[in-house]
Amino acid sequence: MRIAVLRDYQSLSERAAALVSARIGKKPTAVLGLATGSTPLGLYRELVKAAQRGLVDFSGVTTFNLDEYYPIERESPQSYYYYMQQHFWGPLGICPGRAHIPDGRAGDIAGVCSDYEQKIMDAGGIDLQILGIGVNGHIGFNEPGAALSAKTHLASLSAETIAANSRFFEDRDAVPRRAISMGLGTIMKAREILLLASGSEKARAIGETVRGKLTTEVPASLLQAHPRVTVMVDRAAACCLR
Ligand code: PGA
Repeated sequence: MRIAVLRDYQSLSERAAALVSARIGKKPTAVLGLATGSTPLGLYRELVKAAQRGLVDFSGVTTFNLDEYYPIERESPQSYYYYMQQHFWGPLGICPGRAHIPDGRAGDIAGVCSDYEQKIMDAGGIDLQILGIGVNGHIGFNEPGAALSAKTHLASLSAETIAANSRFFEDRDAVPRRAISMGLGTIMKAREILLLASGSEKARAIGETVRGKLTTEVPASLLQAHPRVTVMVDRAAACCLR
């Protein structure tokens, strides 16, 4: 694992955007795995700025999001579809056929999940997967104890995740209890992974991910077994790494 500690959230976002842009510069048809939540917002803002200045070109890029709540309507402001439209696909004008996210409205969940895996394979696999991390070490909605080899599946949110995500909803009861998420197996197949974390509330999870033992109880610790991972954190999130 390569560890990069940046001064603050803005520096983290700029450095992450530079890494993503460099990969697209090298491979204009790159396939990106994307995350939602608060952490990658700065990265997306910087990438949109860079694209508007002509410094990076997303026209050949294909994207696959990690997860989506289930059930949820796309038009719901809490859906990850809505988030992506708002912060990334919309401003970049990414063509809908190239921007993929699990369908949180689907009736046939098993079909949606296997179809999503197939689409990733048909696109040639994920070149660069961007990840955030939960306070409990989750990646995507792969909560502690998740199966190592899991593919895209219907996952149950842990109590900690429901509490953390309730800030985006009216209250805790309004948070969907389930989500369609890439599995740990899907994530580990990405050729490169960029994990981002900001703020002291992520420090323990980052410490366990980087320095702890490899265990499904801290899903992000599995990244220790991946050959090409960069963990990019700000100082506050790095305080357990000293
Ligand atoms: P956050 O979420 O970026 O909103 O902190 C990260 C996660 O839960 O994976």
